[in-house]
Amino acid sequence: MPQTDTEWSSPSRVANLLREAQSRIHTHQAQQRGHGKGFVASDFTRVHAALVRIEEEQLARGPLFCEWGSGFGVVAMLAALLGFEAYGIEVQPELVEAAEDLVEWLGCDVQFACGSFVPADDDDLVGTAEHSWWHASDGSAYDDLDIEPAAFDVFFAYPWPGEDGLFDTLFMRHASIGALLLTYHDGTGVLVQRKDSATGVPAVVGWY
Ligand SMILES: C[S@@+](CC[C@H](N)C(=O)[O-])C[C@H]1O[C@@H](n2cnc3c(N)ncnc32)[C@H](O)[C@@H]1O
Repeated sequence: MPQTDTEWSSPSRVANLLREAQSRIHTHQAQQRGHGKGFVASDFTRVHAALVRIEEEQLARGPLFCEWGSGFGVVAMLAALLGFEAYGIEVQPELVEAAEDLVEWLGCDVQFACGSFVPADDDDLVGTAEHSWWHASDGSAYDDLDIEPAAFDVFFAYPWPGEDGLFDTLFMRHASIGALLLTYHDGTGVLVQRKDSATGVPAVVGWY
C-alpha cells in the first residue's frame, strides 16, 4: 500500500503544484486556441480529494498507478505525492514534454511514456480509437514503461462524454482482478470501480 509522507504531500506542496499546473495549462491552451487535439484538464482539486479518500480507505491493493491519457500529468503527480509509484501514458508528444517539464519543476519521480494506452495487440480497441476522441497510434506505451497493464493497481482516466464505456472495456480486458479504475466526470466527481471478475463490467465502489 502507498505510504504517505506528510511533509512530501503537504497542502502547500499540493497547492503549489496546482497553481503552477493551472498557469502552464492556461498558457498552453491560449497557444493551442482552435488547434487543440482533445486535451482538457480534469478538476485537480476534486481528483486530489478523491485520491486522499482512496488512500485513507486503503482501497488500492498496491502502489502502481497509471494515468491513461495523462496530458500535463498532474493526476499522476498528485498520486506520487500521496505515495503511489505513478506513471502516465500520453499520445501527444508535446504534452509528454510538458508533463516532464512540470515533474522536473516539482522534483518528484513520475515516468511518462509517449504512445497509446491501448495495447498494440488489441485490434478491436485500436480500431475503436479511430471513431472516438481516443487517438490511434502505432506505438503502445507499455513496452517503453516496461510494465504490463495487468501489473498496475490503479488506473485514472478522464473520458470524453459517452466514452466511459470504452475505458471500462479497456480496463476489463487488460487490468488484472483487484485493480481499481478511477474516472473523472464533470459535475459528479470521481467514479471508483474495481475489477472483481474476469468478465462482465467493473464493480462500482462508489463516487469519491
Ligand atoms: C480529457 S484529456 C485528460 C488529461 C488528464 N488526464 C487530466 O485529467 O487532466 C485526455 C487525454 O488523453 C490523451 N489521449 C487520447 N487518446 C489517447 C491514447 N490512445 N493513448 C494515450 N493518450 C491518449 C489526449 O491527448 C488527452 O491529453
